[in-house]
This record gives sequence, C-alpha cells and structure tokens, in this order.
Amino acid sequence: MSQVRIGILGSRFQADCIAAAVKALPEETEVVAVASPTTAHAAGFATRHGIPRAYTDHRELLRDPAVELVWITVPNRLHAQMTIDAAKAGKHVVCEKPLCLTIEEADAMIDACRQAGVLLLYAEELFFAPKYVKAKQLADEGAFGRVHLVKQGEKHSGPHSAWFWDVEQSGGGAVMDLACHGIAFCWWFLGKPTIASVYSQMATQVHHERTQGDDEAVTIIEFGNGATGMVESSWNRLGGMDDCIEVFGDKGQTYADLLMGNALPTYSEVGFGYAVEKAATTRGWSYPVFEEHWNYGFPQEVRHFARCVRGKETPISDGETGRVVQEALYAAYASAGLGRKVMLPFRPKGIAKPIDLWRAPP
Ligand SMILES: NC(=O)c1ccc[n+]([C@@H]2O[C@H](COP(=O)([O-])OP(=O)(O)OC[C@H]3O[C@@H](n4cnc5c(N)ncnc54)[C@H](O)[C@@H]3O)[C@@H](O)[C@H]2O)c1
Repeated sequence: MSQVRIGILGSRFQADCIAAAVKALPEETEVVAVASPTTAHAAGFATRHGIPRAYTDHRELLRDPAVELVWITVPNRLHAQMTIDAAKAGKHVVCEKPLCLTIEEADAMIDACRQAGVLLLYAEELFFAPKYVKAKQLADEGAFGRVHLVKQGEKHSGPHSAWFWDVEQSGGGAVMDLACHGIAFCWWFLGKPTIASVYSQMATQVHHERTQGDDEAVTIIEFGNGATGMVESSWNRLGGMDDCIEVFGDKGQTYADLLMGNALPTYSEVGFGYAVEKAATTRGWSYPVFEEHWNYGFPQEVRHFARCVRGKETPISDGETGRVVQEALYAAYASAGLGRKVMLPFRPKGIAKPIDLWRAPP
C-alpha cells in the first residue's frame, strides 16, 4: 500500500499526537504538510516532525496537491468550516472530537463530504485503545453474558489551552470535551444501538472564574437494547489524566484503567521529566506511563483511517458517528437544564452551541 499523504491543520497538542502516531507507521502514512496561523508555530512543528511544507492558512494546505487526507486538530468552532473547505478541495477528512458545535453543522459536514466523494472520519481513539478493544472482544465473545451496564470516565485537572474554557469556541465544558468520548465509547461497545434517552447532572464545581462551562458531570444513557451507559467527565481531578471503563453483564464483568493501570507505580523525592498527561508533579508517588500513544490507540486509529482511504477497510468511526454523539451532547445539556431525562430523537433547531441548552433549555 502506498503511503497516505496527510496534511495536519493545527500544530499543538493533538497535532503532536497525530504526527507522532504517523511516525510509528512509516510504511502506511506520512505527514506532508501542516497549517497553523502563527508562522513560527507552523515552521517549528514542521521542523520537529520532519514535515516538508508549513502553511499559515489552511486554504493553502488544501491547495497542496500532495495532500490526500486532512487531519483537523483545531478548536471545535472551526471543525465544520474546515471540513467543508477540505471536502470542496477533494481531500478526505479526519475530524477530531467533538465533530462540531451544532447538528446543522454535522449535517452540512456529512453532506459536503458525500457530495465531494471523500471520506469523513471521526477521530474517536477509544475505539482503537488496545485495552478497550480487548474488553470489547471479550464482550463480543460472550464472556460477560448480556452486557447491561457500561461505564466510562475521563477526568483530569482541566484543559491546556484557553479556547477550551471559552464556550463560544468550545461549545461547552467537560461534557463537550470529555463526555463525547464516553458517549461514543458506550455506544460502540454495545454494538451501536439506538440511544433512547440521556440524563445528565452537571455543574461548575471549581472553575467559576475561568469558564462559563460545566467542569464536572455524570451522564446516563439509556440504549434502545435496554443497556445503560454511565459517563463521568471532570476537569477537577488532580494527579494526571484518568481514563477508565467498567463493563457488567449477567455472566461477568471487566475493569480497565487505560493509564494508571498500564503505568509504573513510582516514588521519587526529586521528581523527573514526565509521568502522564496533565500530572502537575512527578515528586512523591506518580504513575509514569509508557507507550502512551499506543495505549490510547492513536497509531492504530491512523492505520485504520489510512486503510479506509486506500479502500482496504470500512470506517468504524465516521461523520455519522460524530452526529450520533452530537445529538447525545445536545440531549445531555438540555437534560441538565430541564432536570430530567431527554428522549431521543432530539434535534432542536437554531442552537448556536450545545451548552446553550443547559443555560436556556427548550
Ligand atoms: N482525541 C483526543 O483525545 C483529543 C485530545 C486533545 C484534543 N482533541 C481535539 O483536537 C482539537 C484540538 O485540540 P488541541 O488540544 O490540539 O488544542 P490546542 O490548543 O493544543 O491546539 C489547537 C491548534 O489549532 C491551531 N489553530 C487555531 N486556529 C487555526 C486556523 N484557523 N488554522 C489552522 N490552525 C489553527 C492553533 O494554532 C493550535 O496549533 C480539539 O477539537 C480537541 O477537542 C482531541
């Protein structure tokens, strides 16, 4: 298979993860261009990752004939327009989570890619995280009998960039940022059943001065097959990133801790360079991870998407996946505003961003 030539939009946190994941698969993919608005950032990223071309305007990258697949790692509010621009330029698209801000945007992204005959792939790496994939294989084999409860939690001390805290750019707080993973995970794990209802309890517990967004939430999803999903999301958890699942069936259960569960319980009085994402210190007890990108599933996700571009695999996560999650995010925010569960389908029109449904529920 010839290498799939990727152009990355954005040059910071997630862009670094994807560029590193591509390097882990040199026979299948290569990054041929990056675009980011600050010249020095774009150039620095290109130098760091050995990328031949750096642009400051994403439209320049879209005109680059070498780019086949555009990987969007920019703030949420830009996802829809960049996807549509990329589709019009005839490029396949991978969009990072959450897909966009509104369901109308999701519709427009899916339509634009369909009309252009390009793929719209939704980057939910938990579908590729080896430990979670193993748990799903066990479930699919029948190890737990009928699975009736799936839990996923993602918790850390809060995002690294200012735009996440600005709901105009992010669309919401911890639910928008983190529950999108858990909603997608539970849905995928259970075999992509319909979502019957969503209930969410959310609050701004700690970061009132920094954001109008929610920083902590518990979201309960009722699936059409009778199973329940429970998603915990927090920007208030100190000590580094925490990503866990629990799966319960009538014949068994399994537990998986993606990061601490794969780490080295370590004690150091002097500290060291890096333990895990968003850990404030490495002094005292800490949990340094190894093969962090591999444990998350980033290289495996890149490989799958590259093979989809070459027609060798069928996408397991696409624009429709992102739209399923988007509708559940709408329902979560509306539910928190209304104080009751919200039945799906739930597609209120004219919403500017999901968090508005919390502050002013329909
Ligand atoms: N899958 C995951 O686990 C995961 C993890 C982190 C972030 N993300 C998602 O990736 C996206 C980016 O998040 P991040 O953490 O990398 O944010 P970040 O703030 O670290 O980086 C954002 C990048 O976008 C660039 N950018 C802004 N406007 C741009 C424009 N007009 N053209 C090109 N680049 C532009 C910025 O310069 C910066 O390089 C978000 O949607 C986020 O939710 C996903």
